[in-house]
Amino acid sequence: MDVIKVENLTFRYSKKAEPVLKNINLTIKKGECMAILGDSKTTLCMAMCGVIPHLIPGHMEGNVWVDGQDTLKMTVKDIAAKVGVVLQDPENQSFNLNVESDVVFAMENLGIPPMEMEARLIDALEIVRMLPYRYKASDQLSGGQKQRVAIASVLAMKPEILILDEPTRELDPLGREEIFDVLNRLKKSGITIIIVENDPPRLAQIADRMILIRDSEIKYEEVPREFFKKVYGDARIKLPQISQAYLDTFHLLGLSKTTELPMNVEEGVAIYGKIIADY
Ligand SMILES: Nc1ncnc2c1ncn2[C@@H]1O[C@H](COP(=O)(O)OP(=O)(O)OP(=O)(O)O)[C@@H](O)[C@H]1O
Ligand SMILES: [Mg+2]
Repeated sequence: MDVIKVENLTFRYSKKAEPVLKNINLTIKKGECMAILGDSKTTLCMAMCGVIPHLIPGHMEGNVWVDGQDTLKMTVKDIAAKVGVVLQDPENQSFNLNVESDVVFAMENLGIPPMEMEARLIDALEIVRMLPYRYKASDQLSGGQKQRVAIASVLAMKPEILILDEPTRELDPLGREEIFDVLNRLKKSGITIIIVENDPPRLAQIADRMILIRDSEIKYEEVPREFFKKVYGDARIKLPQISQAYLDTFHLLGLSKTTELPMNVEEGVAIYGKIIADY
């Protein structure tokens, strides 16, 4: 089932001459993890959570369907109940004194009954591994912990779809790993994930599909292995080291790329071993 369907979407910001999204078509299935790379990433995320066109001035053509409903005909609140959004800066997403109150705050706005709130609070903190910090002061948390609380606050609202726009941008390497660990757990739980991140090799470990936007249009939409074959040569997209080395070797030697593209060291060893054995 398609949980999000973007149909012939074109969007131009007010006072700008050119659209930053042009004729975008995209469907996202339930439980899928979709990674967005390239240009106009935030704009596309905003269109998928209804911020565009409801809150941002501009000119939109086409439609975005969430769970079969046209976002143009939904309120921002209705869309927010289905689509949770996590932004890059955890500092701007914490409004309260401690971890618990931050997560509860979001639910109070939705009018969830207290008994249910407690259960949701525990589940949400558990999945981001923050339950032991339930009463900890927000300003005592590391960046990674703050971002995990921000994710928990969104999860407590039980969205079907989670959009994360560069959630690790402000974090150190440890914080980044913590977020990817949470994303892996979320993916297993079956939630649909749309993620923008600047680390394609890391994204490839979790994404089912990766899209590249260039010149306002979708240039590639592929499973990670095919995606890296296609974007090879685009200096702005970093490939996994082994994939890069493999493609460099094959281009250099002018050989045909008949074997599968390796994406990690184990695959690289297996594929190079086979090539040497056949030689
Ligand atoms: N509110 C706005 N008004 C006018 N133009 C905007 C607005 N927001 C973004 N833009 C422009 O739209 C284009 C796409 O921006 P967007 O933020 O979607 O890209 P992005 O891929 O998320 O970039 P980044 O990697 O910097 O986060 C850019 O040229 C940007 O300058
Ligand atoms: Mg952005």
